[in-house]
Amino acid sequence: MRTLTGIQPSGALHLGNYFGAIKQMLDLQQTDELFLFIPNLHALTTLKNPQILKTNTIDAASTLLSLGVDPNKTIFWVQSDVKEVLELYWILSAYTPMGLLERAHGYKDKIAKGILPNHALFSYPVLMAADILLYSANMVPVGKDQIQHVEITRDIAIKFNNDHGDIFTIPEAKTEEEIALVPGIDGAKMSKSYGNTIDIFLSEKELKAKIGKIVTDSTSVEEPKDPYTCNVFALAKLFLDKNAQEELAKRYQKGGEGHGHFKAYLKELVWDYFASHREKKDYYDKHQDEIIDILREGAYKAREIALPMIDKIRQSVGIYR
Ligand code: ADP
Ligand code: TRP
Repeated sequence: MRTLTGIQPSGALHLGNYFGAIKQMLDLQQTDELFLFIPNLHALTTLKNPQILKTNTIDAASTLLSLGVDPNKTIFWVQSDVKEVLELYWILSAYTPMGLLERAHGYKDKIAKGILPNHALFSYPVLMAADILLYSANMVPVGKDQIQHVEITRDIAIKFNNDHGDIFTIPEAKTEEEIALVPGIDGAKMSKSYGNTIDIFLSEKELKAKIGKIVTDSTSVEEPKDPYTCNVFALAKLFLDKNAQEELAKRYQKGGEGHGHFKAYLKELVWDYFASHREKKDYYDKHQDEIIDILREGAYKAREIALPMIDKIRQSVGIYR
């Protein structure tokens, strides 16, 4: 199974991203042929500060490597390092009916949020189709908001194959239905756009302060507490096996411990869980040359697959060469 996905370089990742997406992706490394890239060209549609785009791209790479992306198992690169994707983007544009893009929710949502419409924002799904089709991916793990983009990819690929024979593999989107939503410090879905996140790589002091801000009810120290309505418990659960979850639930139900205790416990859980990842992150942040080398090597491997494919596509549409 060839699985491909892109992770936007949009700043620090949080516990919701980790337990909702990254962890599943790391598991796929063990079973699938995984292609993972940082879509910096897509990010350019909304991120117009050059320094931030550049820093975020390297930071996304160092974060993913620190969390366990293994460049020996996974082809890992930055989108803009394989230029053939842009050629395919143009060719596919000629096979993309306007109506298909006009119906895209992603575009409409971004405009509704006040982002100025530009052509790249509108044709975003075509570049995404090129990302997927250039590497003949079968499976594309994405969040729910991206399913329509994979459907657009399928439509474009089917239309192209009808005209030119079986050039493209028709991909399928994969979404994790059973993954629970990770709550933020206010109890709503943890999300960058709600400002309620707990980021993975905070300093110990920042982590303690963030966890201190988690909203809890006003039961006193002595009173029994309901673990299943408590945001602190919901987060702690993510780090515990079944037995440890039950033990913690009993401590809540027994009373005699305040929310402060449980918050201190949660802080220890998060801090210890990411200890080795944090060390790696510190290492990569100090050795950015190594990150650049890994990404260059990844782009080289990706291009080895992209080059014969783009050649086949050029020939099928009649591009002279
Ligand atoms: P954000 O809402 O912070 O902008 P993204 O939309 O960039 O996060 O999400 C990236 C990935 O992380 C997606 O696959 C998404 O489903 C997952 N994810 C984000 N927040 C959560 C959450 N609170 N719980 C579970 N998964 C999440
Ligand atoms: N659009 C995706 C997102 O915002 C990122 C992305 C770009 C992607 N190209 C892709 C995901 C190809 C999967 C496959 O999350």
